[in-house]
Amino acid sequence: MESYYLLKTSLLLFCLVETCYGGGLFSSLQQTLAVTASPRESQVLKAGEDSITVTWGLNQSLGPGTDDLYKSVKVKLCYAPNSQVDRKWRKTSDNLSKDKTCQFTIVNKPYGNNQSFEGQIERDVPTAAYFVRAYAYNSAGEEVAFGQTTDAKKKNNLFEIEGISGRHMSIDTASICFSAFSLVSLFGFFLVERRNRRLAKN
Ligand SMILES: *[C@@H]1O[C@H](CO)[C@@H](O)[C@H](O)[C@H]1NC(C)=O
Ligand SMILES: *[C@@H]1O[C@H](CO)[C@@H](O)[C@H](O)[C@H]1NC(C)=O
Ligand SMILES: *[C@@H]1O[C@H](CO)[C@@H](O)[C@H](O)[C@H]1NC(C)=O
Repeated sequence: MESYYLLKTSLLLFCLVETCYGGGLFSSLQQTLAVTASPRESQVLKAGEDSITVTWGLNQSLGPGTDDLYKSVKVKLCYAPNSQVDRKWRKTSDNLSKDKTCQFTIVNKPYGNNQSFEGQIERDVPTAAYFVRAYAYNSAGEEVAFGQTTDAKKKNNLFEIEGISGRHMSIDTASICFSAFSLVSLFGFFLVERRNRRLAKN
């Protein structure tokens, strides 16, 4: 009897640690959160200027209490597949401790159903295509559930962010071109001036 109880307890513990809480694998998280974000499909937002409003809560088709173990929530900006190609520093891994899909936290707060947050896009967010994902954490700080603004294949409802360095780069390029143009025109004026002077002398 006692060993049966022990077995049951350890099975339960094993289940709590390994299976029910996902063991740190994205594929084992339950998609229970409904998440919406303000950007329209294909909208282009500017890092350091534009804001995003995110709303999240328990999917209403799930029973109340499904989120009883959720203690905190982290809402993140995540790279869309097209912006991950050939960039292993943005690579998706099923192992959540290695996953680099979602690198920018929009908000991190205690969990509550039907919450909303508005925040400016941080200045260090690079130019890329994104979606928004929310992770729910248990009291041990482990991911237990998620929700996202795109479909499972991460194809629909993506938006773009234009990074600050991209914008500076184009300003820099413009000023380099302008300087080159000034040099060329200066040189041109110099040549014309010299020819005119020579003509005048003759
Ligand atoms: C909510 O759950 C239902 C049933 O599982 C699913 O069909 C629906 O797409 C979910 N809604 C959201 C916003 O995730
Ligand atoms: C995930 O990666 C970490 C770090 O490499 C490793 O310690 C852990 O065992 C991995 N988890 C799984 C479930 O593979
Ligand atoms: C979520 O909160 C908003 C504002 O507080 C409220 O208008 C809305 O009805 C709520 N939705 C649900 C599903 O509880």
